[in-house]
Amino acid sequence: MRTIPIRLRLTLWYCLIFGLLMIMITTSIYLIHRTSHYREVDRSLVSISEYILNGTYTELDKGVSLSKIQLEAKNVSLNGVAFAIEDISGVSIATGGGALKRPDITLPEMHGMREPLHTFTDQDQIRYRMYVQTIVYHDEILGYVLSEISLSNIDRSMNFLLWLIVSFTLFGLGLAALSGWYLARKAFQPIAMITDTAQAIAHTQGFGQRVMYEGARDELGLLVETFNEMLQSLENAYLSQKRFTENASHELRAPLTTIRGNIDILQAVERMPESERIEILDDMKREAVRMSRLVAELLTLARADAGQEIAFEVVDVNEITSEVIDEMLNWNSVVEIESQLGPSALVWGSRDLIKQLVIILLDNAIRYTPQGGTVRIRTKKEHGRVHIEIIDTGIGVSEQELPHIFERFYRGELARIHFPAGTGLGLPIARWIVEQHQAQIIVLSEQGKGTQMIVKLTALL
Ligand SMILES: Nc1ncnc2c1ncn2[C@@H]1O[C@H](COP(=O)(O)OP(=O)(O)OP(=O)(O)O)[C@@H](O)[C@H]1O
Ligand SMILES: [Mg+2]
Repeated sequence: MRTIPIRLRLTLWYCLIFGLLMIMITTSIYLIHRTSHYREVDRSLVSISEYILNGTYTELDKGVSLSKIQLEAKNVSLNGVAFAIEDISGVSIATGGGALKRPDITLPEMHGMREPLHTFTDQDQIRYRMYVQTIVYHDEILGYVLSEISLSNIDRSMNFLLWLIVSFTLFGLGLAALSGWYLARKAFQPIAMITDTAQAIAHTQGFGQRVMYEGARDELGLLVETFNEMLQSLENAYLSQKRFTENASHELRAPLTTIRGNIDILQAVERMPESERIEILDDMKREAVRMSRLVAELLTLARADAGQEIAFEVVDVNEITSEVIDEMLNWNSVVEIESQLGPSALVWGSRDLIKQLVIILLDNAIRYTPQGGTVRIRTKKEHGRVHIEIIDTGIGVSEQELPHIFERFYRGELARIHFPAGTGLGLPIARWIVEQHQAQIIVLSEQGKGTQMIVKLTALL
């Protein structure tokens, strides 16, 4: 049963139920009709027969012998009924309504049967209905009253009715099958379209395809909509993964090319002034450092994508922040760093990740603040949350750039000039860390004035 398509199964069920219903209705109509017609025939046979029998008794009462009886049946509407009065030996005494067809059995035999009404068929295959009544006078059987009618008209009309019913039922069934098939096809059209699209995607990997369905927004319409939304998000994920791989290989190729070029120079030039050699080696070292940072960042993001397990513990945000500030103070001599750490700021989180988060934000604030500027870092507790605020007076981010700064490899135009060695992976990592801690990050920035980054972590106490 599983291999029969649903469409066909539905149609078959539809036809079966419809057919059964049709057969039930038409059969009952036919049977009711038929019974009432044949009953009507019997009734007229019986009533005519009774009339004749009564007339016979009246004559007998008058003293007329049975063989002399002459009946006036002019006033009776015979309606196609033929009758005869016969004596016990079968001699016809009186007839009316035409000649009688006789069944193959004798009258006493016929009368011996319990049922006085009999149906028989003549050699021309025409059916007759006959009613036999005995004339009993003073306890003596004198003869019989026979009345008979041909059933050919009723049989013909009944056959015609049967034919009509069968043809209408078959026609109705055909119509039901066609409309059932059409309806099922129409109802399953979106599913067929989804299957086609899914198959096309499986063959071509073209996530840009969509199911083009413009029907009602019913259950199937919603299914198509959801399927298209799913395709959209798959396409986005696929494209961003593709972009990420392209960007990553591009970013990795640049420092490698520089390092290889410098090695070539070192190999080719035998006598090189010491200062130039040192400069080339410095250049190589810088690129190698940049590359190892890039690789470390890529690794973090790859782990993030793989759903890495993170160990949480009680973490003091103030402790981490001051640790990062101390490290930063060692290499920064360009901007002034002001710190203002609140009292206890305990959160449930990963020490390493929160430290990485603070480094990324502070690193940006210092890098994108020109000489003479100030970077303020502040922690505080507010409404059950620990805030880490990093505020700088640097180059800021333009309104157009702001929505993109958390995208992988995205770098602001001014930022590229200010710090060409950046990779654009800092903030995407920061965002992932924030998500892992179910925290919030807010960015307020104005180009030329400065940037404010606020992280809100859930406080433990
Ligand atoms: N404090 C800031 N001031 C001005 N612009 C900023 C600041 N922080 C982030 N940005 C903007 O956001 C962009 C993305 O920052 P992100 O830290 O992700 O990358 P990056 O700093 O360019 O490179 P790296 O991955 O090496 O840190 C930056 O290029 C810059 O345009
Ligand atoms: Mg950065």
